[in-house]
Amino acid sequence: TKIGVLGVPFDKGQPRVGVANGPDAIRKAGLIEQLASIHRKVNIKDYGNVTYEVNKEIDKHVPNMREYAHIACCNHELSKSVEGIIKEGRICLTLGGDHSIGVGTVDGHIKAKNEEVCVLWVDAHADLNTNKTSASGNVHGMPMALLASELSDYWPYLPGMDWQKPVISIRNVAYIGLRSVDSYERLVIDKLGITAFGMEEIENYGIATVVNMALNKLDPEGKRSIHVSFDIDSLDALEAPSTGIPIRGGLTLREGIHVMESVYKTGRLGAMDLVEVNPSIGTEQDVKRTVDAAIHIILSAFGYSRKGLIPKDAQLP
Ligand code: ARG
Ligand code: MN
Ligand code: MN
Ligand code: MN
Repeated sequence: TKIGVLGVPFDKGQPRVGVANGPDAIRKAGLIEQLASIHRKVNIKDYGNVTYEVNKEIDKHVPNMREYAHIACCNHELSKSVEGIIKEGRICLTLGGDHSIGVGTVDGHIKAKNEEVCVLWVDAHADLNTNKTSASGNVHGMPMALLASELSDYWPYLPGMDWQKPVISIRNVAYIGLRSVDSYERLVIDKLGITAFGMEEIENYGIATVVNMALNKLDPEGKRSIHVSFDIDSLDALEAPSTGIPIRGGLTLREGIHVMESVYKTGRLGAMDLVEVNPSIGTEQDVKRTVDAAIHIILSAFGYSRKGLIPKDAQLP
């Protein structure tokens, strides 16, 4: 397994300070070392953090998208970085930052593969607002709507976003963990028949069945590259308190781990995002719990086994 780790210290998609420090908090807790010790076939390269220059010219006429110019410019650099990392033959692990960076990661993944990919959006929220339906103007609530080709007609012309054509059909996206969905988002999910497993479905079927149903629906033949965009707020607020919009009644850490173990077993993970960890929210213990949960989720995605792994070429003592 070859992994490329990329940090995106970006917080302009939402109002809380601190989420830009997510990547470094996760690294400082030992992510790279722990990934390296899963088994000896893991090869990791840390590409550091994305930097970008903001072109202030472009945000003049875009209503209800806060910090639009930053969003457009950061995501453009991010998309190029993700594309490059995947083209080097690595699975790209992007550490956010807020969820507005999902635009760049999914775009870069699709450009690198140059074929259809499927997306699991693991989140309490649908992130499916346009600038017309959003009550907040926060772009971390909009990335799925920017990515979906079915919604392209609902957006005005977005200057500086020409690099990002809405390349993915919403048929290739499945939600897992929804429990805070705005009314226009619900309308769009129902109208377009988007595959969505909210908490109620997880209660009815169990998480194992839900992941299998999601993957079978998106890719019945099982040959496409998988993108997992994992918002840490998909986990219950007790499991991951240090995030901008914590919501009770969510996934347990075990359910989150189960999702990623199932994806790992397909052998087709192409890129993963871990977003919305905010080390400035909550107590020191809250932050530690949240970062630790993020690391458990990531390790599961890259082959860490709760059953234990046999040493590769070791002799029994
Ligand atoms: N639906 C709300 C909004 O549009 C919340 C979005 C939260 N998104 C997130 N990535 N945490 O503002
Ligand atoms: Mn989100
Ligand atoms: Mn969310
Ligand atoms: Mn632990």
